[in-house]
Amino acid sequence: MARAVAASKAQKRLIIVSNRLPVSLVRENGKLEMRPSSGGLVTALGPVLKGRGGVWVGWPGLHDADVTEVTAALDVKQSGYTLVPVMLSREDEERFYFGFSNRIVWPLFHEIPFLYDYDPDFWEAYLSANRRFAEVVAALAGEDDYIWVHDYHLMNLGQALRKLGVTASIGFFLHTPFPAPDIFKKLPWRKQVLEALLEYDLLGFQTLRHRRNFLQGVRRLLPEKEVRGRGTMNLIEHDGREVRVGSFPISIDYESFAGQASSPEVTDLALQYRQSLSERCIVLGIDRLDYTKGIPYKLRAFGLALSHHPDLRRRITFVQVVVPSRESIPQYHELKMTIERLVGEINGAYTEPGWVPVHYLFRSLKRAELLAMYRAADVALITPVEDGMNLVAKEYCACDIDATGTLILSEFAGAAAQLQRGALLVNPCDLKQMEEAIYAAYTMEVVEKRARMRRLQRTIREQDVYWWVDSFLRAGADADLGQYPTLEDVAIGHEDDLWSGEG
Ligand code: UDP
Ligand code: G6P
Repeated sequence: MARAVAASKAQKRLIIVSNRLPVSLVRENGKLEMRPSSGGLVTALGPVLKGRGGVWVGWPGLHDADVTEVTAALDVKQSGYTLVPVMLSREDEERFYFGFSNRIVWPLFHEIPFLYDYDPDFWEAYLSANRRFAEVVAALAGEDDYIWVHDYHLMNLGQALRKLGVTASIGFFLHTPFPAPDIFKKLPWRKQVLEALLEYDLLGFQTLRHRRNFLQGVRRLLPEKEVRGRGTMNLIEHDGREVRVGSFPISIDYESFAGQASSPEVTDLALQYRQSLSERCIVLGIDRLDYTKGIPYKLRAFGLALSHHPDLRRRITFVQVVVPSRESIPQYHELKMTIERLVGEINGAYTEPGWVPVHYLFRSLKRAELLAMYRAADVALITPVEDGMNLVAKEYCACDIDATGTLILSEFAGAAAQLQRGALLVNPCDLKQMEEAIYAAYTMEVVEKRARMRRLQRTIREQDVYWWVDSFLRAGADADLGQYPTLEDVAIGHEDDLWSGEG
């Protein structure tokens, strides 16, 4: 059951703005049909608005559609909140969404060393799309509303809203990492982006590491700005205002995942999965098709584990689910080819009658299928090369009703800061270490598995999505009531970052 969210003194109308709405529209037989959107942002924000009500502004995922038709298609009861579309043209999709957002910002912020196409047209398209979102938000926001903007597509939205005269409090949460200054400095529009971010009243990052990267970027690129504060919150003076900067690790609706995973439907389905794989040890990977998720590394590590530990053969199965994403970007398409080749190579080398080592699914899962896979799996192998948080890691733990699963987690997932004491942490680029972690998970005594999993579950249950939203809104929403909470009021008890000794 959804817990009350951030009731406190700040019960204002919440306007959430993200590029992607929780549902995407597709045209089928001439009619617009709704499909659930994928990705961690919609998983996390769905329960927040369900429990609290409000408005969600975003792109419905198709271009050149008629706004009246789209508004009508979205006008269904979404458990007490309203969906408001922002329409994008084919050109916007190409230059703003695929271009600036996903060919420049996404890889740069995940510190992926590509040769970037810093096309100035992409930047212009980004600014223009941010203005378009601002016009829609400005038309519906009152000064008592709290506007909460999400993710890397909309870093300039706060600035565009201020230019339109919006005076309401505006917060921003970045779901991706924020890169180290030596990476961020390559962005030709680095100063403009930082200055735009300082138009928000509150900036939230997933971890201390990402917050520190941002602050170092400000210190280096905008040396005239004064950065104050330590511990839970920093303050930056900007245009006579104080911008608050904090870290707020996003999470899941733990009780909802755990409750649904124990339902008879999911329990039966999980049993069917286990039986169809002959009760072998199931290692599970679930990722969007994305080069940040490190899928080729884990396939190679699994192949090495089979090669070096013959006792694993016939006794272990790797189920890798890849959810389709951004396939028209060449690197995503190439990644799909690489994954298919690696799966083919491993299966070609090791398959025996009655045993296929890697089961590869390239599709979105229905909710019951997803939960049943989590329940059925003995090991979750979640090893991104860089990730803002990674909610799959948290969902797996919430669904492990018997508490006998093992989480192998990349130290470069934001989730590692909170989950380091229960997971087997690995560097995904270290194939030897990955291979050893797979073997260690396979051979681990049940007493140790239980102790680790209970620790993980306790952390995720205590620091769930309602704790996240409450922390963020308490840090930001009171601002325009003239009742800033003290820094101690918004103290956040999450574990320190793995890399906190640096910088
Ligand atoms: N997910 C999904 N469709 C699927 C399988 C998974 O939408 O077929 C969800 C999953 O439950 C999780 C999200 O996608 O909530 C992935 O979030 P994560 O933070 O792990 O990574 P992201 O995709 O946001 O980079
Ligand atoms: C990540 C991003 C989200 C995005 C999601 C799915 O979770 O942080 O902002 O919505 O991936 O990607 P897509 O490009 O389909 O929106």
